[in-house]
Amino acid sequence: MELSEAIRTQRAIRHFSDRPVSDETVRTLMEAATSAPNAGNRQQWRFLVVRDREAKRRFGDWYLRAWTDTVSRIGDEANAQPYRSGGVLGEQMENIPVLVLACIAAGSAYGTGNLDLRGASIYPAVQNLMLTARSLGLGTVITTMHTQFESEVKQLLGIPDEFDTAALIPVGYPARGVEFGDVSRGPLDDVVFQDRWANPLD
Ligand SMILES: Cc1cc2nc3c(=O)[nH]c(=O)nc-3n(C[C@H](O)[C@H](O)[C@H](O)COP(=O)(O)O)c2cc1C
Repeated sequence: MELSEAIRTQRAIRHFSDRPVSDETVRTLMEAATSAPNAGNRQQWRFLVVRDREAKRRFGDWYLRAWTDTVSRIGDEANAQPYRSGGVLGEQMENIPVLVLACIAAGSAYGTGNLDLRGASIYPAVQNLMLTARSLGLGTVITTMHTQFESEVKQLLGIPDEFDTAALIPVGYPARGVEFGDVSRGPLDDVVFQDRWANPLD
């Protein structure tokens, strides 16, 4: 698959089949993740590949609780796609073949400027993983709901205090009838300028 096609069609997949994901495939995804750019090439990332059903069930519970709380607060926005499928994602979490928990070092090593260099040093890895998954026919969705239960997550999986979790990425083949497809984004000219703010691109 052309990289450009993977980028264009790598939409969030929230319904998965129970077709297994091989260890070799997981290793390929993690090689892609750990090839990503990161500040100072410090590589202060860690990735937990979660296959244990009880742990996945716990993530499903946390997801559902966080999702229920979120949709009760956001009004009409809860009808938008990311939230509409949230319940199913939480309920099905234990059946999803693989959950990848992306973690990044806590602490001040990343500087104190305005930019979140910690996030900037883990999300490129997450995107590498997701695009590689797409190229292999695997669906993914980046999720962060579990962070509302950060201490419980850390306790469950033995994550040391020196690391924080940044994203939970369910990985699996899309359920029957679920298709990859063009992502839906606003017009380029609304967000891309040339030479000066608000000047349109040639
Ligand atoms: C930081 C971040 C957090 C996200 N958290 C969730 C989440 O908890 N649950 C979920 O279903 N999708 C989550 N998403 C996925 C977005 O909803 C999705 O990328 C967006 O709606 C665009 O949809 P598309 O990727 O299908 O084009 C998250 C995305 C980002 C970047």
